[in-house]
Amino acid sequence: MQAGQKMEFKHIPVMLNEVIDALNIKPDGRYIDCTVGGGGHSYEIAKRLKNGKLYCFDRDSEALSTSKARLKEFGEKVEFFKANFKDAPKVISDKVDGILIDLGVSSHQIDEGERGFSFLHNGRLDMRMGQDEEIRTAYDIVNFYTEEELRELFYKYGEEEFSKSIARNIVKAREKKKLETTFELRDIIENSMPKKVVYSRGGASKKVFQALRIAVNGELDGLEEALYSFIDMLNVGGRLVVLSFHSLEDRIVKNVFKRESTDCLCPPETPVCICGHKKKIILLSRKPIIAGEKELEDNSRSSSAKLRAVERV
Ligand SMILES: C[S@@+](CC[C@H](N)C(=O)[O-])C[C@H]1O[C@@H](n2cnc3c(N)ncnc32)[C@H](O)[C@@H]1O
Repeated sequence: MQAGQKMEFKHIPVMLNEVIDALNIKPDGRYIDCTVGGGGHSYEIAKRLKNGKLYCFDRDSEALSTSKARLKEFGEKVEFFKANFKDAPKVISDKVDGILIDLGVSSHQIDEGERGFSFLHNGRLDMRMGQDEEIRTAYDIVNFYTEEELRELFYKYGEEEFSKSIARNIVKAREKKKLETTFELRDIIENSMPKKVVYSRGGASKKVFQALRIAVNGELDGLEEALYSFIDMLNVGGRLVVLSFHSLEDRIVKNVFKRESTDCLCPPETPVCICGHKKKIILLSRKPIIAGEKELEDNSRSSSAKLRAVERV
């Protein structure tokens, strides 16, 4: 590929059939795809609409231009918003019949080396999903967090067992020169762990890169509040479907769904209910749905995916 030339947008939608089944699309319903990406899930939603409407969100302008082109044939049935989906309740005032959140990063974002998401491609340490968002980048975190903050971040969001030595070596390296690129960071990470771990892991830097990405994009911030608002946006019978790829994300989804599918939240020893809490949803499955064998073989991204879905009562 020549310099400056844009890559084809490649992203295989995860658990496509399961997502579409869980949304239970009504031809005249209103739907929100919070994370339209390349439009894979949205295409299948839009295809099933007659007089219905689909609102698509993404914070990445490349994802939006790709999905706009892909969904062009559906005309005004589909509307796009370049925004954080956590702001969707402020943007869409109507009640809706289904909401999809496919969390995390797209394969396209990972494959575009210059965006800085990948340790497999060299690029500036950036990692912002919204290229024009004025937020701290991976460069800012790596070069300006204290050693203790880095250690905590890698451990909390990456469950990286070598957090301590990685943080120490980053601080040592940046005393000589600021870290600019993904490959500089990758080399420090790999030199901070035993060689046999580097070879056995298959992507020794994966956990640190994931932790940085989550922090840069504030992926867990406000997710809980957004889920509560989305439940309130649903019509009776409407569905909320969430695909998550990280244990902390899934825990937030699981806890909100558990709470809102429970009538009384009083401690078990309370003789009569004094909280008055009424359930708003039912769980469509008690356990999260995971990808089937065939999909796991075809799409490695599906291996950490968990799908949870609920229906408004
Ligand atoms: C996993 S991809 C979605 C793929 C999509 N379902 C498809 O079939 O092509 C996630 C997308 O969500 C976007 N995204 C992640 N967090 C977001 C947020 N808080 N607000 C808006 N978009 C977000 C990313 O930019 C990325 O394009």
